[in-house]
Amino acid sequence: MRLAVVQTNPIFGDVQTNIKQALLLMENEHADLYVLPELFNTGYNFIDANEVNKLSEPVHGMTYKSISAFSKKKLCYVVYGFAEKSDRLYNSAAFVGPEGLIGVYRKVHLYYRETLFFAPGNLGFPVFDLPFGKVGMMVCFDWMYPESARTLALKGAQLIAHPSNLVLPYCPDAMVTRCLENRIFAATANRVGRENRGGVDLTYIGKSEIVSPKGEILVRMDDKETGKTAVEVDLSVASNKRINEFNDLLAGRQASEYF
Ligand code: ACM
Repeated sequence: MRLAVVQTNPIFGDVQTNIKQALLLMENEHADLYVLPELFNTGYNFIDANEVNKLSEPVHGMTYKSISAFSKKKLCYVVYGFAEKSDRLYNSAAFVGPEGLIGVYRKVHLYYRETLFFAPGNLGFPVFDLPFGKVGMMVCFDWMYPESARTLALKGAQLIAHPSNLVLPYCPDAMVTRCLENRIFAATANRVGRENRGGVDLTYIGKSEIVSPKGEILVRMDDKETGKTAVEVDLSVASNKRINEFNDLLAGRQASEYF
């Protein structure tokens, strides 16, 4: 399958323009699955919950309609981050395909001021069986908790689609370890640019990347430019957890000793 990460620079609050920007980047790159950044349609640096409330959407809102129309037209799949309006506000990722909504993930590990606006995710880490393999999602700061990627691997995911808005410098290199320790692919789609709002100044580090189960960085973008990049991957490779004739990665876990 052809897997793409899309690196955007959203204008805070300009949902229509941000969707258009992402679709333009995707138009010019064929892929079976595109991964877009966290909160790609709204921007990230909310001043207060009122702003989140205004910019959030139900799962089947305007953003879903635009992305699913693209998905139907191009017969492709898309994972994107958005602010979800439901019983509470969630920092969510939607998985969309030609057949419509595949599923939703709500970010479990909230970062920094997100904890003021969003409720922590309550849907677990679902894994979806698609024509090209088994795919789960996590969002940005979930990388800091190895349990996120491990849970997805234990549930059979071959690929982690990872919408992000990274501000700390560690994640792109840390994902090499996440992939290696789970023998799993990861596609981290990050944004670039800066948002200085309400006295909080955030610069996003870009470096969107796709990493293999052997920890190889198959592609990594730079820290400033918007764009997209895609690679051909065989997700079935991630189902082989055998390290050598004596060690099977997941079967070798010694769960009774961990707590
Ligand atoms: C982050 O979780 N957006 C750093």
